[in-house]
Amino acid sequence: MLEARAAVRRLKEYHPPLGGRVGLRLDFNENTVGCSPRVLERLRQLQFDQLARYPERESVERQVSSHLGVDPAGLLLTNGVDEAIHLICETYLEPGDEVLIVVPTFSMYEIYAAATGAQVITIPAGAEFLYPTDEVLARISTRTRLIAIANPNNPTGAVVVRDDLLLILRAAPDAAVLVDEAYFDFYGESLLADVASYLNLFVARTFSKAYGLAGLRIGVLAGNAAQMAMVRRVGSPYNVNAVALACLPDALADQEYVRQYVAEVRRGRERLEQELRTLKLRFWPSQANFILTRIGERHDAFVRAMREHGILVRDRSRDPGCDGCVRISVGSNAQTERLIVALRETVRTLSATGVPA
Ligand SMILES: Cc1ncc(COP(=O)(O)O)c(C=O)c1O
Repeated sequence: MLEARAAVRRLKEYHPPLGGRVGLRLDFNENTVGCSPRVLERLRQLQFDQLARYPERESVERQVSSHLGVDPAGLLLTNGVDEAIHLICETYLEPGDEVLIVVPTFSMYEIYAAATGAQVITIPAGAEFLYPTDEVLARISTRTRLIAIANPNNPTGAVVVRDDLLLILRAAPDAAVLVDEAYFDFYGESLLADVASYLNLFVARTFSKAYGLAGLRIGVLAGNAAQMAMVRRVGSPYNVNAVALACLPDALADQEYVRQYVAEVRRGRERLEQELRTLKLRFWPSQANFILTRIGERHDAFVRAMREHGILVRDRSRDPGCDGCVRISVGSNAQTERLIVALRETVRTLSATGVPA
């Protein structure tokens, strides 16, 4: 009988909610108001021949390189950061190699790494979900081939400071160090300029979050040109579709749109933090477009009640160290006000019906 590889059979199933996401979607850290109107205009102007031919990535790749200030030979457009992670794992991992991740973090590192047969070593985050740099340094061995770091991290919003990232890069010259900057726009600090100096550094960015293009599936992987030549060998020449490629230059050109959205999210983040303090809910300071908060034992009742208010939030209570925690994305000012009304009401109802929220 046909059987999947042993490493695949051992994988846990990953079940993000893939359907029925009706309401204000504060569960996936997407842009909640949509992309730049320039992108929508471009979509309306698409011609049949742009869809009839295979997508041509290179000229858009050059535009993205110049926008980001990196060598085009070291940059690859990808089908979201998800694909960038997959490509790194396929390029560098052999069965038995070690991969270091600090948990809780984004699930796809573990899934793609484990699928290669590599051994994923999970290191718990420190107090307050801070990155345990010393523990990571101590776990680097001759078998370490990948260290994946979301910066800012999902689901905590915590960040790793530049000096610590550089320590790790230097301590593991034989490992790919992937710094996943999916939430860069809401944070502002980056290691992108360092790809020229560190042969083992890869930086990933996405257009799914601040740019509002999650549905188009487009991201960027940057690294040293020689390493990226290896990564390209693994990827499909047509990994990014023609619609995404047609829209990306317009999305990049409308920086004002991104700036405004990011500014609104940052204000909303502060507003939500204030409210969580008032409601006496524990939360962790976040540099991303979401906040992780500890609801307690009634986390599932909380998520259901918020859904009744028309707001989707994400239960993260099964993530390591996240007992009773829920992650709430931040959107526009108006959406944050709506969120706060629902939050107050939900917390009041839950406290009135027994166990405190
Ligand atoms: C840390 C992190 N990396 C990558 C992704 C996926 O990005 P993309 O939509 O570009 O595949 C997410 C999405 O939630 C994320 O949180």
